[in-house]
Amino acid sequence: MTVAVHEGLVEHAAIDKAFHALLAAVEGSGDVAATFQAVVDLVRHHLGSEELDIASFADVDAEEAKGLLLEHEGIRQTLDALAAQLEAGHLPPKAVHDLKLRFAIHEAREETGLYRWASAR
Ligand SMILES: [Fe+2]
Ligand SMILES: [Fe+2]
Repeated sequence: MTVAVHEGLVEHAAIDKAFHALLAAVEGSGDVAATFQAVVDLVRHHLGSEELDIASFADVDAEEAKGLLLEHEGIRQTLDALAAQLEAGHLPPKAVHDLKLRFAIHEAREETGLYRWASAR
């Protein structure tokens, strides 16, 4: 396993944990603004660094690479939409739950595709 693959998997686990903390916060037991910012920072950093590997992965599976990049774009747009909701005063738990689930599905897709390819390099 390369350092990049290891780091990516560690980041997936950290992001899962951050989403869990955010969900607990919006459901009433924590600092929503701080936990949301933690999710945003981790996810944005993660997507950006992963896209360097996705650019190489496109040489072997252009369709899958394109699909991952589209999901990244959707995740970024959703983070912006949630930021606007938070700014307006209410971050709905369902919206957080939906993104948490969507991110978990994205991670699973990567771990059986992009990451499997990257660790075999
Ligand atoms: Fe990703
Ligand atoms: Fe990822």
